[in-house]
Amino acid sequence: MSDFAALWAEIVAVGRSADGGYRRYALTPPELTLRDWFRGQAGRRGMTVTEDGNGNLFAWCGEPWAPGTVLTGSHFDSVPGGGGYDGPLGIVSAFLALDRIASPRNLAIGAFVEEEGGRFGVPCLGSRLMTGAITPARAAALTDRDGITFGEALGSTPTGQISGISHLSAFVELHIEQGRALDVPVGVGSAIWPHGRWRMEFAGAGDHAGTTRMTDRRDPMLTFAHTVLAANEEARLIGAHATVGRVQAEPNATNAIPSMVRGWLDARAADTATLDRLLESVIKRATERAGRDGTELSVVAESVTDEVAFDTELARRLSALLGDAPILPTGAGHDAGVMSSHVPTAMLFVRNPTGVSHAPAEGASNEDCEAGVEALARVLESLT
Ligand code: GLV
Ligand code: MN
Ligand code: MN
Ligand code: MN
Repeated sequence: MSDFAALWAEIVAVGRSADGGYRRYALTPPELTLRDWFRGQAGRRGMTVTEDGNGNLFAWCGEPWAPGTVLTGSHFDSVPGGGGYDGPLGIVSAFLALDRIASPRNLAIGAFVEEEGGRFGVPCLGSRLMTGAITPARAAALTDRDGITFGEALGSTPTGQISGISHLSAFVELHIEQGRALDVPVGVGSAIWPHGRWRMEFAGAGDHAGTTRMTDRRDPMLTFAHTVLAANEEARLIGAHATVGRVQAEPNATNAIPSMVRGWLDARAADTATLDRLLESVIKRATERAGRDGTELSVVAESVTDEVAFDTELARRLSALLGDAPILPTGAGHDAGVMSSHVPTAMLFVRNPTGVSHAPAEGASNEDCEAGVEALARVLESLT
Protein backbone atom coordinates (compact mmCIF):
# COMPACT_ATOMS: atom_id res chain seq x y z
CA MET A 1 0.00 0.00 0.00
CA SER A 2 1.29 3.51 -0.78
CA ASP A 3 1.99 5.93 2.08
CA PHE A 4 -1.05 7.90 1.05
CA ALA A 5 -3.39 4.91 0.86
CA ALA A 6 -2.27 3.68 4.29
CA LEU A 7 -2.84 7.00 6.07
CA TRP A 8 -6.04 7.73 4.16
CA ALA A 9 -7.46 4.38 5.27
CA GLU A 10 -7.25 5.58 8.89
CA ILE A 11 -9.83 8.33 8.36
CA VAL A 12 -11.84 7.33 5.30
CA ALA A 13 -14.79 5.90 7.21
CA VAL A 14 -15.16 8.72 9.76
CA GLY A 15 -18.51 10.44 9.28
CA ARG A 16 -19.40 8.44 6.16
CA SER A 17 -23.05 7.44 5.68
CA ALA A 18 -24.40 4.34 3.97
CA ASP A 19 -24.83 6.25 0.68
CA GLY A 20 -21.14 7.21 0.63
CA GLY A 21 -21.77 10.86 1.57
CA TYR A 22 -20.04 12.44 4.57
CA ARG A 23 -21.58 14.45 7.38
CA ARG A 24 -18.83 15.88 9.48
CA TYR A 25 -20.18 19.09 10.98
CA ALA A 26 -17.66 21.15 12.95
CA LEU A 27 -17.25 20.18 16.61
CA THR A 28 -19.57 17.15 16.33
CA PRO A 29 -18.37 13.59 16.99
CA PRO A 30 -16.94 12.72 13.54
CA GLU A 31 -15.02 15.99 13.34
CA LEU A 32 -13.85 15.61 16.94
CA THR A 33 -12.63 12.10 16.06
CA LEU A 34 -10.54 13.57 13.23
CA ARG A 35 -9.15 16.22 15.59
CA ASP A 36 -8.03 13.46 17.95
CA TRP A 37 -6.47 11.69 14.99
CA PHE A 38 -4.67 14.97 14.15
CA ARG A 39 -3.25 15.17 17.69
CA GLY A 40 -2.09 11.57 17.41
CA GLN A 41 -0.34 12.17 14.06
CA ALA A 42 1.34 15.27 15.42
CA GLY A 43 2.44 13.45 18.57
CA ARG A 44 3.90 10.59 16.55
CA ARG A 45 6.06 13.15 14.72
CA GLY A 46 7.14 14.97 17.85
CA MET A 47 5.15 18.08 16.91
CA THR A 48 3.67 20.46 19.49
CA VAL A 49 -0.12 20.84 19.24
CA THR A 50 -1.82 24.13 20.10
CA GLU A 51 -5.36 25.49 19.81
CA ASP A 52 -5.90 29.15 19.08
CA GLY A 53 -9.00 29.80 21.17
CA ASN A 54 -11.11 29.95 18.00
CA GLY A 55 -11.44 26.23 17.39
CA ASN A 56 -8.47 25.99 15.01
CA LEU A 57 -5.86 23.30 15.73
CA PHE A 58 -2.18 23.56 14.88
CA ALA A 59 0.75 21.14 14.95
CA TRP A 60 4.19 22.74 14.99
CA CYS A 61 7.63 21.63 13.88
CA GLY A 62 9.47 24.17 15.99
CA GLU A 63 8.26 26.94 18.28
CA PRO A 64 4.58 27.84 17.83
CA TRP A 65 4.26 31.09 15.86
CA ALA A 66 8.04 31.41 15.44
CA PRO A 67 8.86 34.08 12.86
CA GLY A 68 9.25 32.63 9.37
CA THR A 69 6.98 29.61 9.92
CA VAL A 70 5.26 28.19 6.84
CA LEU A 71 1.74 26.96 7.56
CA THR A 72 -0.06 24.33 5.52
CA GLY A 73 -3.38 22.56 6.13
CA SER A 74 -7.10 22.64 5.46
CA HIS A 75 -10.26 21.53 7.29
CA PHE A 76 -12.00 18.38 8.55
CA ASP A 77 -15.64 19.51 8.42
CA SER A 78 -17.90 18.70 5.48
CA VAL A 79 -21.18 19.85 4.01
CA PRO A 80 -24.06 17.43 4.71
CA GLY A 81 -23.76 14.60 2.19
CA GLY A 82 -20.36 15.86 1.05
CA GLY A 83 -17.36 14.12 -0.46
CA GLY A 84 -14.52 12.64 1.54
CA TYR A 85 -11.66 14.67 0.10
CA ASP A 86 -12.86 18.25 0.47
CA GLY A 87 -10.77 19.31 3.45
CA PRO A 88 -9.14 16.19 4.92
CA LEU A 89 -7.01 15.66 1.80
CA GLY A 90 -5.07 18.83 2.63
CA ILE A 91 -4.35 17.69 6.20
CA VAL A 92 -3.46 14.07 5.46
CA SER A 93 -1.21 15.27 2.61
CA ALA A 94 0.44 17.77 4.96
CA PHE A 95 1.56 15.08 7.43
CA LEU A 96 2.86 12.90 4.59
CA ALA A 97 4.65 15.84 2.93
CA LEU A 98 6.38 16.59 6.21
CA ASP A 99 7.63 12.98 6.33
CA ARG A 100 9.32 13.55 2.97
CA ILE A 101 11.29 16.58 4.08
CA ALA A 102 14.74 15.63 5.39
CA SER A 103 14.88 18.00 8.37
CA PRO A 104 11.60 19.92 8.58
CA ARG A 105 11.86 23.20 10.48
CA ASN A 106 9.54 26.12 10.92
CA LEU A 107 6.64 24.20 9.49
CA ALA A 108 3.13 23.94 10.88
CA ILE A 109 -0.04 22.09 9.97
CA GLY A 110 -3.44 23.65 10.61
CA ALA A 111 -6.95 22.23 10.83
CA PHE A 112 -9.39 25.13 10.52
CA VAL A 113 -12.80 24.89 12.16
CA GLU A 114 -16.14 25.29 10.32
CA GLU A 115 -14.73 25.92 6.84
CA GLU A 116 -17.96 24.93 5.13
CA GLY A 117 -20.27 26.97 7.32
CA GLY A 118 -22.38 23.80 7.26
CA ARG A 119 -23.21 23.97 10.94
CA PHE A 120 -23.15 27.67 11.91
CA GLY A 121 -23.79 29.32 8.53
CA VAL A 122 -20.62 31.37 8.02
CA PRO A 123 -17.97 29.60 5.93
CA CYS A 124 -14.27 29.81 6.88
CA LEU A 125 -15.34 30.77 10.39
CA GLY A 126 -12.03 29.64 11.96
CA SER A 127 -9.80 31.53 9.54
CA ARG A 128 -12.08 34.59 9.69
CA LEU A 129 -11.76 34.60 13.47
CA MET A 130 -8.01 34.18 13.54
CA THR A 131 -7.50 36.96 10.98
CA GLY A 132 -10.01 39.30 12.64
CA ALA A 133 -12.42 39.20 9.67
CA ILE A 134 -15.34 38.44 12.02
CA THR A 135 -15.76 39.59 15.61
CA PRO A 136 -15.65 36.98 18.37
CA ALA A 137 -19.04 38.23 19.63
CA ARG A 138 -20.73 37.70 16.27
CA ALA A 139 -19.12 34.28 15.79
CA ALA A 140 -20.01 33.19 19.34
CA ALA A 141 -23.70 33.97 18.72
CA LEU A 142 -24.05 32.04 15.45
CA THR A 143 -26.49 29.15 15.98
CA ASP A 144 -26.80 25.73 14.43
CA ARG A 145 -30.08 24.09 13.44
CA ASP A 146 -30.64 22.86 17.00
CA GLY A 147 -30.15 26.31 18.53
CA ILE A 148 -26.66 25.57 19.88
CA THR A 149 -24.36 28.57 19.53
CA PHE A 150 -20.81 28.41 18.21
CA GLY A 151 -19.63 29.69 21.60
CA GLU A 152 -21.44 26.82 23.33
CA ALA A 153 -20.05 24.24 20.92
CA LEU A 154 -16.56 25.64 21.43
CA GLY A 155 -17.03 25.78 25.21
CA SER A 156 -16.02 29.45 25.39
CA THR A 157 -16.20 32.75 23.55
CA PRO A 158 -13.68 32.64 20.69
CA THR A 159 -10.60 34.75 21.30
CA GLY A 160 -10.41 36.27 17.81
CA GLN A 161 -7.45 37.66 15.93
CA ILE A 162 -4.09 35.96 16.50
CA SER A 163 -1.17 38.36 16.54
CA GLY A 164 1.26 35.59 15.53
CA ILE A 165 -0.35 35.43 12.11
CA SER A 166 1.99 38.19 10.95
CA HIS A 167 4.93 35.90 11.82
CA LEU A 168 3.91 33.34 9.22
CA SER A 169 5.95 33.59 6.05
CA ALA A 170 3.49 31.65 3.87
CA PHE A 171 0.32 29.58 3.89
CA VAL A 172 -0.21 26.73 1.44
CA GLU A 173 -3.49 24.80 1.20
CA LEU A 174 -3.66 21.61 -0.82
CA HIS A 175 -7.24 20.79 -1.87
CA ILE A 176 -9.19 18.47 -4.10
CA GLU A 177 -10.12 20.27 -7.34
CA GLN A 178 -13.87 20.82 -7.33
CA GLY A 179 -14.85 21.53 -10.89
CA ARG A 180 -13.88 20.08 -14.23
CA ALA A 181 -10.86 22.26 -14.72
CA LEU A 182 -7.79 20.10 -14.06
CA ASP A 183 -6.66 17.29 -16.35
CA VAL A 184 -3.21 16.64 -14.88
CA PRO A 185 -2.53 15.37 -11.33
CA VAL A 186 -1.65 18.71 -9.70
CA GLY A 187 -2.41 22.37 -10.42
CA VAL A 188 -1.73 25.69 -8.69
CA GLY A 189 -4.49 28.14 -7.63
CA SER A 190 -4.66 31.64 -9.09
CA ALA A 191 -7.88 33.12 -7.70
CA ILE A 192 -11.16 32.50 -5.92
CA TRP A 193 -14.37 33.90 -7.30
CA PRO A 194 -16.10 36.44 -5.05
CA HIS A 195 -19.08 34.77 -3.44
CA GLY A 196 -21.59 34.99 -0.65
CA ARG A 197 -24.67 33.70 1.08
CA TRP A 198 -27.89 35.68 1.29
CA ARG A 199 -30.76 34.56 3.50
CA MET A 200 -34.03 35.48 1.82
CA GLU A 201 -37.19 35.47 3.91
CA PHE A 202 -40.53 35.50 2.18
CA ALA A 203 -43.42 36.30 4.54
CA GLY A 204 -47.03 35.62 3.55
CA ALA A 205 -50.27 34.53 5.16
CA GLY A 206 -50.64 31.00 6.50
CA ASP A 207 -54.05 29.56 5.65
CA HIS A 208 -56.00 26.42 4.82
CA ALA A 209 -54.95 24.59 1.66
CA GLY A 210 -58.45 23.32 0.98
CA THR A 211 -60.63 26.33 1.68
CA THR A 212 -58.62 29.36 0.62
CA ARG A 213 -59.52 30.55 -2.88
CA MET A 214 -56.50 30.78 -5.18
CA THR A 215 -57.19 34.48 -5.65
CA ASP A 216 -57.22 35.14 -1.88
CA ARG A 217 -53.80 33.72 -1.13
CA ARG A 218 -50.60 35.42 -0.07
CA ASP A 219 -48.38 32.42 -0.63
CA PRO A 220 -44.64 32.99 0.00
CA MET A 221 -43.77 29.65 -1.60
CA LEU A 222 -44.89 31.10 -4.90
CA THR A 223 -42.64 34.14 -4.56
CA PHE A 224 -39.81 31.88 -3.47
CA ALA A 225 -40.25 29.54 -6.45
CA HIS A 226 -40.24 32.45 -8.90
CA THR A 227 -37.14 33.84 -7.20
CA VAL A 228 -35.27 30.54 -7.58
CA LEU A 229 -36.11 30.48 -11.30
CA ALA A 230 -35.14 34.13 -11.66
CA ALA A 231 -31.78 33.52 -9.96
CA ASN A 232 -31.04 30.65 -12.31
CA GLU A 233 -31.99 32.69 -15.38
CA GLU A 234 -30.01 35.77 -14.34
CA ALA A 235 -26.92 33.73 -13.49
CA ARG A 236 -26.99 31.99 -16.89
CA LEU A 237 -27.46 35.31 -18.62
CA ILE A 238 -24.34 36.90 -17.15
CA GLY A 239 -22.13 33.83 -16.73
CA ALA A 240 -22.36 33.64 -12.93
CA HIS A 241 -23.45 30.85 -10.57
CA ALA A 242 -26.58 30.95 -8.41
CA THR A 243 -27.84 28.14 -6.18
CA VAL A 244 -30.58 27.73 -3.63
CA GLY A 245 -29.64 24.53 -1.81
CA ARG A 246 -31.27 25.10 1.53
CA VAL A 247 -34.87 25.97 2.25
CA GLN A 248 -37.23 26.05 5.22
CA ALA A 249 -41.00 26.48 5.17
CA GLU A 250 -43.18 27.36 8.14
CA PRO A 251 -45.20 25.65 9.40
CA ASN A 252 -44.10 23.05 6.82
CA ALA A 253 -47.45 21.30 6.61
CA THR A 254 -48.80 19.64 3.48
CA ASN A 255 -52.27 21.08 3.94
CA ALA A 256 -51.36 24.64 4.93
CA ILE A 257 -50.26 27.58 2.82
CA PRO A 258 -46.93 28.51 4.40
CA SER A 259 -46.69 31.68 6.43
CA MET A 260 -42.97 31.95 5.76
CA VAL A 261 -40.38 30.52 3.40
CA ARG A 262 -36.70 30.99 4.03
CA GLY A 263 -34.18 30.18 1.31
CA TRP A 264 -30.45 30.66 1.17
CA LEU A 265 -29.02 32.02 -2.08
CA ASP A 266 -25.40 31.07 -2.76
CA ALA A 267 -24.15 33.40 -5.52
CA ARG A 268 -20.72 33.54 -7.15
CA ALA A 269 -19.12 35.19 -10.15
CA ALA A 270 -15.69 35.69 -11.66
CA ASP A 271 -15.59 39.32 -10.56
CA THR A 272 -17.30 41.55 -8.01
CA ALA A 273 -19.10 43.75 -10.53
CA THR A 274 -20.81 40.69 -12.06
CA LEU A 275 -21.72 39.32 -8.63
CA ASP A 276 -23.21 42.69 -7.64
CA ARG A 277 -25.23 42.79 -10.87
CA LEU A 278 -26.52 39.28 -10.25
CA LEU A 279 -27.65 40.14 -6.72
CA GLU A 280 -29.27 43.34 -7.84
CA SER A 281 -31.30 41.67 -10.57
CA VAL A 282 -32.37 38.71 -8.41
CA ILE A 283 -33.55 41.00 -5.61
CA LYS A 284 -35.32 43.27 -8.08
CA ARG A 285 -37.22 40.37 -9.63
CA ALA A 286 -38.00 38.85 -6.21
CA THR A 287 -39.34 42.19 -4.97
CA GLU A 288 -41.52 42.65 -8.07
CA ARG A 289 -42.90 39.17 -7.65
CA ALA A 290 -43.54 39.73 -3.93
CA GLY A 291 -45.61 42.78 -4.91
CA ARG A 292 -47.79 40.63 -7.16
CA ASP A 293 -48.14 37.84 -4.58
CA GLY A 294 -48.87 40.12 -1.63
CA THR A 295 -45.86 38.77 0.23
CA GLU A 296 -42.91 40.50 1.83
CA LEU A 297 -39.26 39.92 1.15
CA SER A 298 -36.29 40.59 3.39
CA VAL A 299 -32.70 39.76 2.50
CA VAL A 300 -29.77 39.42 4.91
CA ALA A 301 -26.20 38.92 3.72
CA GLU A 302 -24.90 36.19 6.04
CA SER A 303 -21.40 36.17 4.59
CA VAL A 304 -19.71 37.82 1.65
CA THR A 305 -16.21 36.98 0.48
CA ASP A 306 -14.42 39.35 -1.85
CA GLU A 307 -12.56 38.34 -4.94
CA VAL A 308 -9.25 36.69 -4.00
CA ALA A 309 -6.17 36.80 -6.20
CA PHE A 310 -3.41 34.63 -4.80
CA ASP A 311 0.17 35.91 -4.84
CA THR A 312 0.87 35.81 -8.59
CA GLU A 313 4.63 35.61 -8.27
CA LEU A 314 4.37 32.76 -5.77
CA ALA A 315 1.90 30.88 -7.99
CA ARG A 316 4.25 31.23 -10.99
CA ARG A 317 7.20 30.04 -8.94
CA LEU A 318 5.34 27.00 -7.64
CA SER A 319 4.03 26.15 -11.08
CA ALA A 320 7.59 26.21 -12.45
CA LEU A 321 8.84 24.16 -9.49
CA LEU A 322 6.20 21.53 -10.30
CA GLY A 323 7.15 21.29 -13.97
CA ASP A 324 4.83 23.93 -15.39
CA ALA A 325 1.77 22.86 -13.46
CA PRO A 326 -1.37 24.60 -14.74
CA ILE A 327 -2.49 27.71 -12.85
CA LEU A 328 -6.25 27.89 -12.43
CA PRO A 329 -8.98 29.83 -10.59
CA THR A 330 -11.81 28.23 -8.61
CA GLY A 331 -15.40 29.03 -7.75
CA ALA A 332 -15.04 27.29 -4.37
CA GLY A 333 -14.24 29.11 -1.16
CA HIS A 334 -11.24 28.18 1.01
CA ASP A 335 -9.50 29.27 4.21
CA ALA A 336 -6.61 30.11 1.87
CA GLY A 337 -8.78 32.93 0.50
CA VAL A 338 -9.20 34.44 3.96
CA MET A 339 -5.54 33.93 4.87
CA SER A 340 -4.34 35.51 1.64
CA SER A 341 -5.01 39.07 2.83
CA HIS A 342 -2.55 38.51 5.71
CA VAL A 343 0.08 36.04 4.48
CA PRO A 344 1.53 35.19 1.05
CA THR A 345 -0.76 32.30 0.17
CA ALA A 346 -0.85 29.56 -2.45
CA MET A 347 -3.10 26.63 -3.25
CA LEU A 348 -2.38 23.28 -4.82
CA PHE A 349 -5.23 21.37 -6.44
CA VAL A 350 -5.34 17.61 -6.92
CA ARG A 351 -7.23 16.27 -9.96
CA ASN A 352 -10.79 15.10 -9.35
CA PRO A 353 -11.76 12.73 -12.19
CA THR A 354 -15.50 13.04 -11.62
CA GLY A 355 -15.36 16.83 -11.36
CA VAL A 356 -18.06 16.48 -8.69
CA SER A 357 -17.74 17.97 -5.20
CA HIS A 358 -19.98 18.59 -2.18
CA ALA A 359 -21.51 15.23 -3.15
CA PRO A 360 -20.50 11.58 -2.67
CA ALA A 361 -19.12 11.24 -6.22
CA GLU A 362 -16.18 13.52 -5.40
CA GLY A 363 -12.99 11.53 -5.93
CA ALA A 364 -9.26 11.33 -6.55
CA SER A 365 -6.98 8.43 -7.45
CA ASN A 366 -4.33 7.29 -4.97
CA GLU A 367 -1.70 8.03 -7.64
CA ASP A 368 -2.84 11.64 -7.96
CA CYS A 369 -2.99 12.02 -4.18
CA GLU A 370 0.58 10.69 -4.00
CA ALA A 371 1.56 13.26 -6.61
CA GLY A 372 -0.14 15.90 -4.48
CA VAL A 373 1.87 14.88 -1.41
CA GLU A 374 5.09 14.97 -3.39
CA ALA A 375 4.24 18.40 -4.85
CA LEU A 376 3.37 19.77 -1.40
CA ALA A 377 6.66 18.45 0.01
CA ARG A 378 8.65 20.17 -2.77
CA VAL A 379 6.70 23.38 -2.26
CA LEU A 380 7.16 23.44 1.52
CA GLU A 381 10.82 22.64 1.14
CA SER A 382 11.27 25.52 -1.28
CA LEU A 383 9.48 27.93 1.08
CA THR A 384 11.37 27.07 4.30
C1 GLV B 1 -16.76 25.72 0.22
O1 GLV B 1 -16.38 24.65 -0.22
C2 GLV B 1 -17.59 26.53 -0.61
O2 GLV B 1 -17.07 27.05 -1.62
O3 GLV B 1 -18.78 26.63 -0.35
MN1 MN C 1 -16.25 22.53 0.44
MN1 MN D 1 -12.76 22.70 1.31
MN1 MN E 1 -59.04 21.03 9.80
